[in-house]
Amino acid sequence: AASPRLPFAVKPTAHPVPEADRLKAFEALGFGTLFSDHMAVIRWSADKGWHSAEITARAPFPIDPAASVLHYAQEIFEGMKAYRTADGRAVLFRPQENARRFNESARRMAMPELPEEDFLAAVEGLVKIDARWIPQGEGSSLYLRPFMFASETFLGVRPSKEYIFCVIASPVGPYFKGGAKPVKIWVSETYTRAAAGGTGAAKCGGNYAASLVAQAEAAAHGCDQVVFLDAAEHRWVEELGGMNVFFVLEDGSIVTPPLSGTILPGITRKSLISLAADEGLTVREEPYSFDRWQADAASGRLKEAFACGTAAVVAGIGAVKFSGGEFRIGDGETGPVTTRLREALVGIQRGQTNDRNGWLHTL
Ligand code: PLP
Ligand code: COI
Repeated sequence: AASPRLPFAVKPTAHPVPEADRLKAFEALGFGTLFSDHMAVIRWSADKGWHSAEITARAPFPIDPAASVLHYAQEIFEGMKAYRTADGRAVLFRPQENARRFNESARRMAMPELPEEDFLAAVEGLVKIDARWIPQGEGSSLYLRPFMFASETFLGVRPSKEYIFCVIASPVGPYFKGGAKPVKIWVSETYTRAAAGGTGAAKCGGNYAASLVAQAEAAAHGCDQVVFLDAAEHRWVEELGGMNVFFVLEDGSIVTPPLSGTILPGITRKSLISLAADEGLTVREEPYSFDRWQADAASGRLKEAFACGTAAVVAGIGAVKFSGGEFRIGDGETGPVTTRLREALVGIQRGQTNDRNGWLHTL
């Protein structure tokens, strides 16, 4: 049962970014470097539960050097976007899914769950006060980053008794520098991301900390992203550093790794599975090995592969590199099925096509 909705104190900043500066910054949007004026904050303590909800000027948190997040990494986050539709509405895409997944992550990390309605009220409140920060153009949006961290001053190893939940907003353009060009990915044979029983299905900061050296290896090999294999056999394709992965076969069917507990249950993944079914395509959630990937690419049985996630949307994978060599997928360009699914998804997110499934949440 959800607790009653928290009252949010709304305190608009006295120093908003001047409109001319905002417009200038909007001319060249990257990813995650520009921020809006405000943030939403809710605090939790073992004695009071969730309290002190506010929307206030974006500002640093004073944090004690012994705050438990700094030592044991008790932290989780979400990634979602607000879009400006052609008819001028501000919309969120399936925000309840993020609220639900946030609490799944919280449970795994022994953190308190935030009632979904409070999560949504924080996100909506921030988007409303910072509505001018939602960019309009195709490929740009207001990326929202809800997160929660352990803020108790305590060095013992046990769940913190205090947490801060916060939402910040960042106007973004394409995640990959190459824009809509297909990406090149690096198969990590040295590092794995998550093992059975670990935190792979949770969106916790530690998973990303562990992925950085593998991502650096990918970059050193001229690749855009790393793809991880399973930890037990180093054989099965799992997911990319920050995206799920799909394979399009010669017969038109699509394969994506199953939610085995070691990969993030992507909301884009779930949405594309449903859109593909609507388009009459068969999607199988089944293990796909790196051996098969190489063989299918060589024989031409594999027509396309793509990565998907909130930040990256849908990105064709043109080439794959690993310690033993390199191979191309199809003709190395973004394929027709990838393009069709991307357009179906983006069309809904931008309010251009009929939102049959009721995925858009208008603010
Ligand atoms: N996998 C990982 C590791 C991610 O970080 C993300 C991005 O959030 C995804 C998959 C895709 O998830 P979603 O589609 O919900 O953004
Ligand atoms: C997202 O897509 O929201 C993520 O968290 C992925 C990250 C690479 C930015």
